[in-house]
Amino acid sequence: MEIIIQPTASAASIIAARLIARLVYHKPNCVLGLATGSTPLATYQELIRMHREDGLDFSHVTTFNLDEYVGLSPEHPQSYHHFMQEHFLRHVNVAPERIHIPDGMTSDVPGLCERYEAEIRAAGGIDLQLLGIGSDGHIGFNEPSSSLASRTRIKTLTERTRNDNARFFSSPAEVPLHCITMGVGTIMETRQVLLLAFGPNKAQAIAEAVEGPITAMNPASILQMHPVAKALLDEPAATSLRRLEYYRWVFDNKPDWQRV
Ligand code: GLP
Repeated sequence: MEIIIQPTASAASIIAARLIARLVYHKPNCVLGLATGSTPLATYQELIRMHREDGLDFSHVTTFNLDEYVGLSPEHPQSYHHFMQEHFLRHVNVAPERIHIPDGMTSDVPGLCERYEAEIRAAGGIDLQLLGIGSDGHIGFNEPSSSLASRTRIKTLTERTRNDNARFFSSPAEVPLHCITMGVGTIMETRQVLLLAFGPNKAQAIAEAVEGPITAMNPASILQMHPVAKALLDEPAATSLRRLEYYRWVFDNKPDWQRV
């Protein structure tokens, strides 16, 4: 995994947005895997700016989101459908028919999950997957102990994740118990991963994911086996890494052609 440490979350987000923009520029019909949460917000803002000011064109791009809460309609203010519209999709020109987010209101969860996987395959697979990380190391909503080979399916959220995400709801009890999430195996098949983590609350999960053993107890740790994964961190999220100085040295000494 390539570890990129930046002084601030906004500097790291600009790098993430540039990497995404570069892909969209070179492969206009690319398939993007998108994430929710507070972490990717600044990346989306920078992509929106590039769309408005530099003409970055998403009209041929296909998107697949990682996850959705079960039981929340697309109009629910805390649904990930709503989040994506508010924070990214309504500000750019992705064609509505090429946007994919699991339907949390489906009456047939297993059928929907199978179709979601089939749609990803039919689109040619995901070129770049944007990821945040939970404070317990989850990616998507793959909580600790998730199978590292799992596919899109229903999951039950841990108390910790429900508490972490309760800040967006009027009370913790309102956070749904279940979600639909791409599996760890689904994420591992994407061609490139950008894992973003900001703030001290993520330091432990990042240290385990990057330098710890590969274990289902920290699902992000499987990214050590991904052929093209970059972790973009701010200083507070990087503080528990043992080889911090080495990662900085590698980044500072990149050949010019590798710089972003
Ligand atoms: C949720 C999402 C994850 C996200 C995580 C971290 O659980 N399902 O995709 O990475 O929250 O959220 P935040 O970025 O707000 O810390």
